Amino acid sequence: MFIENIMLFSLVFNTITFVEVSAKFEYFENLAKARNCDPKCSFEDTSLTRATLPKFPTSCSTVCAEIVIKKDCDLTEQELTTAFHNMKVLIGGFLMRETNFTSAKFLAGLESIECLNNMQFIYNDQLLELGLTNLSNITGPGISVTQNKKLRRLNMPNLKYLVSTESNITAVAVDIYNEVSPDFCLTTDEMKMIMSIDNASLVSIFGKYCDPVINGRLCKVAGAGCVEIIGDVEVTPSFKLETMKDVEIIYGSLIINGTNLADLSFLLNLKYVATFDSEYSSVCMSIQTKFLENNAILIENNFNLTSITFPQLKRIRSKFLNSIVLKSNNRILSNDSSYCFGLREELNLRGFGLTIDGSSCEMLDKGQNAEKSSRAGWSSGFLFGFLIVLRGFFSAF
Ligand SMILES: *[C@@H]1O[C@H](CO)[C@@H](O)[C@H](O)[C@H]1NC(C)=O
Ligand SMILES: *[C@@H]1O[C@H](CO)[C@@H](O)[C@H](O)[C@H]1NC(C)=O
Ligand SMILES: *[C@@H]1O[C@H](CO)[C@@H](O)[C@H](O)[C@H]1NC(C)=O
Ligand SMILES: *[C@@H]1O[C@H](CO)[C@@H](O)[C@H](O)[C@H]1NC(C)=O
Ligand SMILES: *[C@@H]1O[C@H](CO)[C@@H](O)[C@H](O)[C@H]1NC(C)=O
Ligand SMILES: *[C@@H]1O[C@H](CO)[C@@H](O)[C@H](O)[C@H]1NC(C)=O
Ligand SMILES: *[C@@H]1O[C@H](CO)[C@@H](O)[C@H](O)[C@H]1NC(C)=O
Ligand SMILES: *[C@@H]1O[C@H](CO)[C@@H](O)[C@H](O)[C@H]1NC(C)=O
Repeated sequence: MFIENIMLFSLVFNTITFVEVSAKFEYFENLAKARNCDPKCSFEDTSLTRATLPKFPTSCSTVCAEIVIKKDCDLTEQELTTAFHNMKVLIGGFLMRETNFTSAKFLAGLESIECLNNMQFIYNDQLLELGLTNLSNITGPGISVTQNKKLRRLNMPNLKYLVSTESNITAVAVDIYNEVSPDFCLTTDEMKMIMSIDNASLVSIFGKYCDPVINGRLCKVAGAGCVEIIGDVEVTPSFKLETMKDVEIIYGSLIINGTNLADLSFLLNLKYVATFDSEYSSVCMSIQTKFLENNAILIENNFNLTSITFPQLKRIRSKFLNSIVLKSNNRILSNDSSYCFGLREELNLRGFGLTIDGSSCEMLDKGQNAEKSSRAGWSSGFLFGFLIVLRGFFSAF
């Protein structure tokens, strides 16, 4: 349901925004003005076809246009390659929808786009890869690569800067879901690339990892020289902690279970933990159980664990809400909500992104207050606590 809703929302949203062309035309005019668009390098038709192609400013390196390539596009990939050959900067937008093109390599020279809507690649049934090999900058609400039936790879290896145009929002959407394509996968390098862009919102990326190329740096099991690990890392009492010293990324879950650890200092260089699905079918499996599974980090039964500060951890990604789950560790962690709030802030998570013994930070906090007031009067304290816990539950969403 969750994923379907996101998709539905996104589809409806995207369709609406592209239908309201006239209202947006004004924005485009303003943007064109603000960016000093050269009229000779502007293209104002709403759709690129053989009929409108002669008007496309083929010789410009900066083009102002909202390029729309849809099912009425009767041009070949070669003709588009020629048309976009010199275009390095695009101001306006780009939409490619319901075409039969096998790649978007005709945009291979594009380095930067500033868009009013998400840059979009949607419902292209023959699309195998994007091939946006020089694209490094996207300014605007984001990029969507969705519902392409045969998509195998992104091949967009140089993305570096995402800049939002909304005044108070720094997050830029990276929407990638092509669950209709059984062969679609993201490489570990692509996940690393996206995770290391601070402004990238990771909430709408679904899929699985491509078969990894195992080398000295990327391993399946922690060991000497490994900097990245693909697969779950399970730290148990017999685990050799020193093997994690150099690890920066886990493409999988981190589980710390039943150890005597007092703190997490052994994860000296860990920056990212990004779980992914092994199979798309798991999306369709019991959503209810998956809702609670697939944590990025699960820390359980470590009775001595009193510090939950990660030395370097920057961000985590998991499919569902509970990204970090702590259960049955040292009681101080659930007794004092400041540990919970501290870690949640450190990782920029919200609400139920982090739970300790089943409670969000707000619930722990209110539990504490309830405990205090229970000394004054148990029954009213209990009722009061229960109500605010309930309220905390809902407001956390
Ligand atoms: C794509 O190919 C299908 C099947 O050959 C055809 O029916 C459809 O019209 C084509 N669409 C475009 C936009 O060329
Ligand atoms: C991409 O950028 C590289 C390095 O600047 C350049 O050599 C190459 O020609 C560009 N690709 C295209 C298709 O323009
Ligand atoms: C991308 O953005 C960075 C940082 O703002 C800037 O230095 C760089 O010149 C931009 N690159 C392109 C191709 O626009
Ligand atoms: C947006 O930012 C401005 C100034 O940076 C601030 O005054 C305002 O409260 C913010 N609005 C919201 C909804 O966060
Ligand atoms: C993140 O976005 C903000 C504004 O939305 C921008 O000022 C900042 O440069 C971006 N950061 C990077 C690293 O691109
Ligand atoms: C943690 O260890 C206990 C005891 O060995 C085991 O029952 C439990 O399934 C483990 N939890 C996870 C998440 O692996
Ligand atoms: C960890 O807890 C055990 C008892 O469960 C205790 O014997 C041991 O001293 C503790 N170790 C540390 C480092 O606190
Ligand atoms: C919980 O914290 C309170 C003070 O905040 C303390 O009095 C109490 O002993 C603690 N309980 C446990 C089980 O640690």
